[in-house]
Amino acid sequence: MGYIYEGEDVKTGRRVAIKTLLPHGSKGHESKSSIPQDRKEGNLRNEYEILRHLRHPSIIKAFELFRFRNDLCLVLEYLDGRGLDAWKGTTEPDGRRTAILAFAETARGLSAVHELGYVHTDLKPGHIILSSGGIKVIDFGLACTITTDSSRSGGSRFSWRKLFRRAPERRQVSVRGTTAYMSPEHLQGDVDPQSDIYSLGISLYEILVGEKPMPVLVETDNKFLAEWHKKPRSKLVQLSQLNPPIPRELEMLIYSCCESKKQYRPRTMAYLTQALTKIADNL
Ligand SMILES: Nc1ncnc2c1ncn2[C@@H]1O[C@H](COP(=O)(O)OP(=O)(O)OP(=O)(O)O)[C@@H](O)[C@H]1O
Ligand SMILES: [Mg+2]
Repeated sequence: MGYIYEGEDVKTGRRVAIKTLLPHGSKGHESKSSIPQDRKEGNLRNEYEILRHLRHPSIIKAFELFRFRNDLCLVLEYLDGRGLDAWKGTTEPDGRRTAILAFAETARGLSAVHELGYVHTDLKPGHIILSSGGIKVIDFGLACTITTDSSRSGGSRFSWRKLFRRAPERRQVSVRGTTAYMSPEHLQGDVDPQSDIYSLGISLYEILVGEKPMPVLVETDNKFLAEWHKKPRSKLVQLSQLNPPIPRELEMLIYSCCESKKQYRPRTMAYLTQALTKIADNL
C-alpha cells in the first residue's frame, strides 16, 4: 500500500524508517492502488494513534506523523531485519527453533497489544520482522480497538472495567486484511483477540510446512475460504509427518490456533508465549 524509506532524524541522529503513501517526488496522480487516498491516510493515522500508545520490545515504535507536501509520512523505528517469511519451510533444527521462538515473542508483543484493548487484525509472517533488536510486529494500519456492545454505539474506548463486567469484547470491522490469515469470524467482519490467535496459527503453520494450510485457489476467494473453514482441521497436512517431524504437542497447539470456532482456540497470547517457549526449549 505504501512506500518505506530509510531516513535519519537530523536532531537526534537516529536512523528511522518513513512510511509514506506516495512515491518520493510524486505529485499524487501516479498511485495505481485501488484503495482511495483518504482511506490510506486513515490507515496511516490509525497506525500512528495505536503505536504511540504502545511501548513493548516486540512492537515497532512510531515517533511522528506529519504532512510533507501532499503526502502523509509516518516516522517509525528503523528495522534492519527481514520478515519471518524468509524462514518459510525451514527444516534445520536451528531454523525451526528460531522461528518458533520468534512466534513466542510475537505472541508476547500481541499479549500487550490485547491487554491495551487493541487487535492487530493483519498478522502474517511478512508483518513479523526478525531484526538485530529482536522480533518486531509491524503494520498496525488495520488494527482496531475492542469495544463492548454497549460502547460501540457511543464510540467510547475499551476499558478494563468494562472487560470485567461484559465479556467477551468484539468489534465489527469492515473486512480488510490478507484473507488467507483471516479467521472465519473476521471474514464476517467480527474481530477480537482470538482472531489474532488464528492468524498466528496459520502463519506458524506456513513457516513450518512451507505453504499455507489451504489450497492456493482457496486462499484468495472468500467463498472457497468459507467452505474450507467448515472442514475439520485433522484434514490439514500432518505436521508430525514432516521430515524431520515436529513434536505432536506443537502440532496440536497449531491446530487449536487454526480452529474455525474461536472457543476451541487457546484463550490468550500469554498462554501461547509460554507454550511455544517451552516447546522450543525442548527441541
Ligand atoms: N520500520 C521499518 N524498517 C525497515 N523496513 C520496514 C519497516 N517497516 C516496514 N518495512 C518493510 O516494508 C514492508 C511493508 O511494510 P508495511 O507492511 O508496514 O507497509 P504496507 O504499506 O502495509 O505494505 P504492504 O501492503 O506490502 O503490507 C515490510 O514488509 C518491511 O519489509
Ligand atoms: Mg503491510
